Formats: sequence, C-alpha cells, structure tokens
Amino acid sequence: MVLILLDGSVKTPIRVVDLVVPFRASYGTLAIGLGTLSFEILVLVAVTGWLRRQIHPSAWRWIHRLSYLACGMIFLHALLGGSDFSAPEVSSIAWSVAAVLTVLTVARLLWGRLSAEGRDLQRGRPNP
Ligand code: HEM
Repeated sequence: MVLILLDGSVKTPIRVVDLVVPFRASYGTLAIGLGTLSFEILVLVAVTGWLRRQIHPSAWRWIHRLSYLACGMIFLHALLGGSDFSAPEVSSIAWSVAAVLTVLTVARLLWGRLSAEGRDLQRGRPNP
C-alpha cells in the first residue's frame, strides 16, 4: 500500500483516500476501485476470522464466503489495471489459476461438498 502511494511510475498518483474509499481514483476508476474493495473484504474476512467465536456461525460463514467475491475482483483488478498482464508469462499463470478456481467454484455450487465417504477416501481412511 505504501509503495502504491510512492510509485512515481503510475500515470496519476494514488491518494490515501483511494486506499480506503473505492471508485474515487482519477484514472482506472473501476480497476483501482475493485482493488480497494477487495482489500477491504480481505481485511473483513481476516478480522472476523480472529473474532470467529464472538460471531454467529451463519453470519461468520456468509462473511467468509465474500472471499470468493474478493478473489474474482482481485483478478479483474489486475486484468484491467495491471501493466504486467500483457506479458504471456504473467497472463498465462493468472488465466490458468482463474480457470481452475472457476471450475472448482462451479463444481462446488452444482454438487456441494464431498460426501463423508469421499472425504474419508481422500484422507486414506476406510469408510465403514
Ligand atoms: C487499496 C487497494 C489497492 C489499490 C489502491 C491498488 C492499486 C493498484 C494499481 C494502481 C495497480 C496498477 C499498477 C500499474 O500501473 O501497473 C495495481 C495492480 C495490481 N494489483 Fe492492486 N491495488 C489494491 C489492492 C490490491 C490487492 C488486495 C491485490 C491482491 C491481493 C492487488 C493485486 C494487484 C495485481 C496482481 C496487480 C497487477 C500488477 C501488474 O500487472 O502490473 N491489488 N493495483
């Protein structure tokens, strides 16, 4: 975060307010706003992770699920705002990770978690 504020190579300086309030940057408003918002979600997920015992389990689970959203927004943030994405070494890794995560997310939405039997098999335990 500090480096972003000091980075002289970006077209227009990022202000401290852009680190906290999304969609206010004077260039790449959408791209940078997505970064700010996803950063805030990550902070929320981390803080509620520490406070898990004090939070109602279903509220905690829904907050935790926001990390899926943050993941997608970080990808869009880097895709729309980053300058390294034009390099095939970077974009091929990023697109591969995005593709695998998309397949896993769709599979989870369609079929839910593994059954207890599937989990036991995965851990190498016999299922009675
Ligand atoms: C307050 C929050 C954030 C701000 C203001 C911000 C700002 C920026 C800016 C200005 C760029 C473009 C740099 C360039 O000119 O190439 C960028 C790129 C990028 N950001 Fe963020 N960002 C934020 C949060 C995040 C978070 C939370 C992540 C990931 C966990 C992230 C990952 C990336 C990546 C991967 C790039 C692409 C680098 C490249 O391709 O050059 N950013 N960000």
